[in-house]
Order: sequence, then structure tokens, then C-alpha cells
Amino acid sequence: MEIIVENLTKDYGQFRALDHISLHITGGMFGLLGPNGAGKTTLMRILATLLLPTSGRVEIGGFDVLRQGSSIRQRLGYLPQEFGFYPGLKAFELLEYIAILKNVPPKQRKAQVEAVLAEVNLLEQAQRKVGTFSGGMRQRLGIAQALLGNPELLIVDEPTAGLDPEERIRFRNLLVGLSKRSTVLLSTHIVADVEFCNGLAVLEQGKVVFIGSPSELANRARHAVWQVKVPMEQWSEVERRYTVLATQMTNGMVQARLLASDRPLADAQPLSPRLEDGYVAVIQNHQKQREESYA
Ligand SMILES: Nc1ncnc2c1ncn2[C@@H]1O[C@H](COP(=O)(O)OP(=O)(O)OP(=O)(O)O)[C@@H](O)[C@H]1O
Ligand SMILES: [Mg+2]
Repeated sequence: MEIIVENLTKDYGQFRALDHISLHITGGMFGLLGPNGAGKTTLMRILATLLLPTSGRVEIGGFDVLRQGSSIRQRLGYLPQEFGFYPGLKAFELLEYIAILKNVPPKQRKAQVEAVLAEVNLLEQAQRKVGTFSGGMRQRLGIAQALLGNPELLIVDEPTAGLDPEERIRFRNLLVGLSKRSTVLLSTHIVADVEFCNGLAVLEQGKVVFIGSPSELANRARHAVWQVKVPMEQWSEVERRYTVLATQMTNGMVQARLLASDRPLADAQPLSPRLEDGYVAVIQNHQKQREESYA
């Protein structure tokens, strides 16, 4: 499902949460990556027609968010960052209830609830009260409710927060699978979550600071990632001068991965950039530009 965002701005009173954002999403899995407060939830709530933009244009599958919200809602599944639960309901009951809210025809209700429970691997827990679910099970139930009504667009806001590494990987695979038939828009501040996205945008303080593929993001740190090994005494100087991406201690020496546009030390080894490196480089560039524009 095609999503077109043009010059979108959102103000909360005096505060500008989104600042002239433009995006074009054509399908598959698209990641929105950014630190806390970047504007991810604000953007997703506007796309989900829950929040009105201050200015700009948003079109989803040819429908305008301002004038054709109900057509968009019929084609949308949304998992909010905070998904409220009815802890006393059983998983099956909760989903049946949401299916009613989503106008799933009565005759299809039971079969659809079973189908989405199977899809997220919760069929065996169907008769358990959701209040007893683990974090990972809750997130999978959250996806199950978003899948009711066979949406063409699935918007999931930080769905991997609080999951253990194994659950996170399982959850990611679930989303990749779903993205074969629906457009999936995923927000996160964890870089590894967007590794399998077809496209992604980095948001920072309400601005889009990168749009491209995961490998293009990694490439933003090309020729700028180095490995150095220095004695403990010299470490504080290195730390002060360069952006440290990772460190490791070995026999009184500090081995570090650094971001630096020029070779930081004579014996520094160039490394090939990873996704995280590109993300740090993009965010840092943007912060530098902002400081310069204030100066
Ligand atoms: N209702 C509101 N009123 C005023 N300011 C708000 C409101 N909602 C969000 N903000 C502000 O807008 C900015 C963007 O918030 P948003 O929740 O969209 O960020 P986010 O990228 O989703 O962050 P997180 O990773 O923490 O979920 C933040 O500075 C936030 O404080
Ligand atoms: Mg958020």
C-alpha cells in the first residue's frame, strides 16, 4: 500500500514535533528509526488517523487522511506503543471483542480470530487470561488484534521494546513474514530491528535526516570506522576526541571501534561500516549542522 507524506508538520502548542516531513513508502517493510522524542509516535498516530496534522498532506492507498479517514481505518491495523489490555479476558474473548469493533462479519469472526492467533503462534494460549501473559506474548497478541480484518497496512509502534533477544528475533521474523502480503510500518530505536526492512527513515527532533535502504544507512559511515588499540593511559584522550562506537579491554589495553572522518591514529585499522555506525554518523551530522546553524 502506497503512503505519501508531503511537507507534514505537527505542532503541539508551541512545540514542533514534526517539521516538514516528506516520505514515500511503496510497500514491504518500512522502518522508522529514531531516538526518544524524535516524533515516531506522532507520525504513526497521524497515519493511523488518530491525530490531525497541523499542515501538509498525507495520502494512504490513494485516500487522504483528512477527508477519507474511515476508508483508511478500514484498511489499517495499528498496534500502539502502549497497548491497553483487559487482563481479566481470555485471549480469544479479547480478540472476538476487537473483531466486533472492527466490523468483522459475525459469521467470519471465530475463524478469523483463530487464524490470527495461529499466525502469531498463540493458539494454545487462546483460553488463557491475557493478564497472565509475558511481555512477548502480549506483543504477539497486540499484532494478532492488529491483523483482524486483514489490513493492507500494519502500523506497529515500538513493538520490540521490552522483549528478550530470542523473542525479539521471533517477533521480527513474524513481521517480515507479514510484510510479504501487507505493508508494515515499524518504529523502533533499536537499530538491529530495521536490518530486514526494505526501506527506512531516520527521524531526529521532528526531521527526517535519512531515507534509504539499510545498506545505504551503513554506508553513511563508509571510510569513517576505525579500530584502535591504545594503553589505558591514553584512552581518555582518544575518548575525548572521537566518537566511540564500542570498546573492549584486553590486558591493560583498550580496543575500540571509533567514528572519525580521518585516520585517528597512525596504526588505526579501517573497518567496514555496520548499520549502527551509519545511524550514529547520521544523527551526529545532523546535531553538528544544528549547532552550526545556531552559532
Ligand atoms: N500531546 C503532546 N503534547 C505536547 N507534546 C507532545 C505530545 N505528544 C508528544 N509530544 C512531544 O513531541 C515529541 C515527539 O514525541 P513522540 O512521542 O512522537 O516521539 P517518539 O519518537 O515516539 O519517542 P519515543 O521513542 O520515546 O516513543 C516529544 O518531544 C514529545 O515530548
Ligand atoms: Mg513513541
